[in-house]
Amino acid sequence: MTEAAEATEPVEEAAGAASRDEALRPHAEDAFAHELTALAAADDRPRPARWRLSPWAVATYLLGGTLPDGTVITPKYVGPRRIVEVAVTTLATDRALLLLGVPGTAKTWVSEHLAAAVSGDSTLLVQGTAGTPEEAIRYGWNYARLLAHGPSRDALVPSPVMRAMAEGATARVEELTRIPADVQDTLITILSEKTLPIPELGQEVQAVRGFNLIATANDRDRGVNELSSALRRRFNTVVLPLPATADAEVDIVSRRVDQMGRSLDLPAAPEGIDEIRRVVTVFRELRDGVTTDGRTKVKSPSGTLSTAEAISVVTGGLALAAHFGDGVLRPADVAAGILGAVVRDPAADRVVWQEYLETVVRERDGWKDFYRACREVSA
Ligand SMILES: Nc1ncnc2c1ncn2[C@@H]1O[C@H](COP(=O)(O)OP(=O)(O)OP(=O)(O)O)[C@@H](O)[C@H]1O
Ligand SMILES: [Mg+2]
Repeated sequence: MTEAAEATEPVEEAAGAASRDEALRPHAEDAFAHELTALAAADDRPRPARWRLSPWAVATYLLGGTLPDGTVITPKYVGPRRIVEVAVTTLATDRALLLLGVPGTAKTWVSEHLAAAVSGDSTLLVQGTAGTPEEAIRYGWNYARLLAHGPSRDALVPSPVMRAMAEGATARVEELTRIPADVQDTLITILSEKTLPIPELGQEVQAVRGFNLIATANDRDRGVNELSSALRRRFNTVVLPLPATADAEVDIVSRRVDQMGRSLDLPAAPEGIDEIRRVVTVFRELRDGVTTDGRTKVKSPSGTLSTAEAISVVTGGLALAAHFGDGVLRPADVAAGILGAVVRDPAADRVVWQEYLETVVRERDGWKDFYRACREVSA
């Protein structure tokens, strides 16, 4: 290392640490660094090659628990334990993991936390879109170097997947089915041969032990770009379900709202739990097409009304309450958010919403304030 490099390093490090602290949304491995460190210290079970934690500890990181030294591991995923166990185990095999589900079922969230717990790095990420090129999965070139010196390893720009292969880490591909089919198929060699050929150099990159890949795909996007069966066989598919009960969904929403509120400096709102329950009830009834008591059928709007949207509605409501109200979450703070989530198609969804409002909300005990607030924003 040169003297100049030595001199600048601490400064750069300090800048990096500060920006991590200030990050609006820190990576999972930074946000939960203390939990990961405590888990690694307590973990005496065997770890697969290059894993930071044993599969048991990774599952505990996701599902939560208390360690012998008293450290509390917060639950990241609320749902069936078996799903998490299967997902974690898959990553220790030679098959890749595909997280499938309707929007807002925490596919991205689980993928990030799995990568953070297994490899300590959730950033080796390819975002799938209709325009994702092959280079995003394989490698690209630094054209200045390529022109100056010709093709060489120096001129090659590795993709996140290639870096994960070389480091024995976890790569992530988001929204796999949005990627055009021929580009998706680039993954077949990577996943079955565990190599990435570089024909321009007559070389290849061989995946180091510890490499695996987590892809997410949205159920609703089915048919956009179907996964080829050749590629699908390389994956173990784990379907993430919608929360089974209203209580589970209220639990998820309150936890996430609390976490997000803290990072946005919003006041904590334990008094808001009634309103959270109300948002979840409305979303579930409209999604299921029937009221909680099973008595009244209701029409479903075109939007997904996912748990993730319920989280946004409540977070938005809390911000309203904090900045323009008395800090307590009230019906008027969530009404506009609910309307925005439900009425996606201005014509058809508005009719669905009005009908729900008049037949269900209006008649319900203790929902008068909420009914009035909704009427006000719906008019
Ligand atoms: N079962 C759950 N446990 C914990 N958090 C959940 C759960 N379901 C949803 N969430 C929360 O919902 C939010 C959105 O999740 P995420 O973005 O991962 O959804 P997604 O399945 O990737 O959706 P999309 O298909 O739209 O990409 C996250 O903040 C996550 O914490
Ligand atoms: Mg996602």
